Amino acid sequence: MPSEPLISLRDVHLAFADNPVLKGIDLDVHRGQAVSIIGPSGSGKSTILRCITGLLRPQAGTLRVADTAVHALSSEAEFIALRKRVGFVFQQYNLFPHLSVLENLVIAPRKVLGRARADAEHEARQLLAKVRLDHKADAYPGELSGGQQQRVAIARALAMRPELILFDEVTSALDPETVGEVLTVIRELTEEGMTCVLVTHEMRFAEDISDVVYFTEHGRIAESGSAEQIFQRPRNERTQAFLRHALGEGARRYYPPAPDVLSNLRSYSVSV
Ligand SMILES: Nc1ncnc2c1ncn2[C@@H]1O[C@H](COP(=O)(O)OP(=O)(O)OP(=O)(O)O)[C@@H](O)[C@H]1O
Ligand SMILES: [Mg+2]
Repeated sequence: MPSEPLISLRDVHLAFADNPVLKGIDLDVHRGQAVSIIGPSGSGKSTILRCITGLLRPQAGTLRVADTAVHALSSEAEFIALRKRVGFVFQQYNLFPHLSVLENLVIAPRKVLGRARADAEHEARQLLAKVRLDHKADAYPGELSGGQQQRVAIARALAMRPELILFDEVTSALDPETVGEVLTVIRELTEEGMTCVLVTHEMRFAEDISDVVYFTEHGRIAESGSAEQIFQRPRNERTQAFLRHALGEGARRYYPPAPDVLSNLRSYSVSV
């Protein structure tokens, strides 16, 4: 493992007005790792991701993505440079409804990266094949299921050739039967060595794919460790209580993959 983390947060503090939300976050992500952030609602998970994208600026502490000091970004140009390197996929897919699936993938590489149309289109088609939606290139987002739209959103993030991708509860708004196909795509990305940071409520998935898991509570990292340690031998009693709840009753539901996902792919669709 390289000694320099790709993402590094040190004692990051952030408050909204007088509401302290991050109270000293230390977090490292190395190149090629899949890192999950789990924890109760309101504990600061999305805020951490938004800080990594530069959308929110911490009031104290340092935050680096490779050689970029994200806590000290001062110009629009630096911010744009960061956004090129960091892909972000949200719960809401936010595709452009008036553009075809293909055009949704082509627009940013052309406008932001200045790539030629033929190049951008060629790569967009490859990415659509990767998320198994090559047959939907000419469809409009409104004609797709939630899971398909979310896979387009992932392909769109990949079209910018990011160095890392952040996923914030990307399956939370999906119908249960389409969760598995989206998780399968994320799993494949992690297997290919894409650096991924996931905020997720899909605990079995997090356990399965993560190299490192962080458990947040009240704006602090209450515990972090390997997936095996956090899920099998949590030390912190708050982690234990959270996992007891999250892996309880509802977690045993299983949703089969949608028909257009190859049947030999494993599917992760355990929900809490
Ligand atoms: N833009 C904002 N303005 C004011 N307060 C905010 C803002 N965004 C988040 N907060 C507050 O910060 C805290 C942490 O929010 P955050 O969205 O990071 O939690 P989370 O762990 O992602 O929760 P969830 O699991 O519900 O998504 C919450 O108390 C929230 O109300
Ligand atoms: Mg959140």
